[in-house]
Amino acid sequence: MRIAVLGTGAGGRCHAARLAELGHQVTIGTRDPSVTLART
Ligand SMILES: NC(=O)c1ccc[n+]([C@@H]2O[C@H](COP(=O)([O-])OP(=O)(O)OC[C@H]3O[C@@H](n4cnc5c(N)ncnc54)[C@H](OP(=O)(O)O)[C@@H]3O)[C@@H](O)[C@H]2O)c1
Repeated sequence: MRIAVLGTGAGGRCHAARLAELGHQVTIGTRDPSVTLART
């Protein structure tokens, strides 16, 4: 399935990672990509 996860907090990251492991196509949305990339 193609799945979108909004938010890169603990819940969003955990769900996105597991869904991707299971073979789903996961897209993650975040409010501010530059801030999120700097944080990670
Ligand atoms: N963690 C758990 O074990 C757990 C269990 C059951 C239920 N929940 C529920 O799941 C939800 C998320 O939990 P979490 O632990 O992942 O929280 P979190 O770590 O605080 O992450 C929430 C994410 O939502 C985004 N966000 C915050 N304020 C926002 C706003 N005003 N508009 C749009 N996006 C916003 C942010 O992502 P960006 O910075 O990437 O935009 C933030 O990182 C909560 O409602 C919580 O009650 C969590």
